[in-house]
Amino acid sequence: MALDYSKKVMDHFINPRNVGEIENPDGVGEAGNPKCGDIMKIYLKVNDDTKIIEDVKFKTFGCASAIASSSMATELIKGRSIEDAWNLTNSAVAEALDGLPPIKMHCSVLAEEAIHEALNDYRGKHGMELIPVEHHEE
Ligand code: FES
Repeated sequence: MALDYSKKVMDHFINPRNVGEIENPDGVGEAGNPKCGDIMKIYLKVNDDTKIIEDVKFKTFGCASAIASSSMATELIKGRSIEDAWNLTNSAVAEALDGLPPIKMHCSVLAEEAIHEALNDYRGKHGMELIPVEHHEE
């Protein structure tokens, strides 16, 4: 049976924003789901003075929901502070996509985790304390 995807999920899957890699990124994070094997990688460019995320790109080897979640998540954290970006939850990403089918909620978790890993990578390189990354199943 075909899953019922919102128009926004389809839009971000077909025309994903911020796909690619950043050369000399300030932070890189990766998250994977061992069950489906999908992997998401996030690259950040952070302004050291303002701590604002000036650019963000992603590479996702995964399902439509994972690609749409990465695309939406990068849109949501671009131009935000590293603190704001940390507070982006997977449910906020799913909500911004007008919802994900329940069995696809875990795809949005990859986005939250990959962003957390990338932010910690940045923090570690800049002498800031690391924040524990919660791994959760949806
Ligand atoms: Fe695994 Fe979507 S099915 S991330």
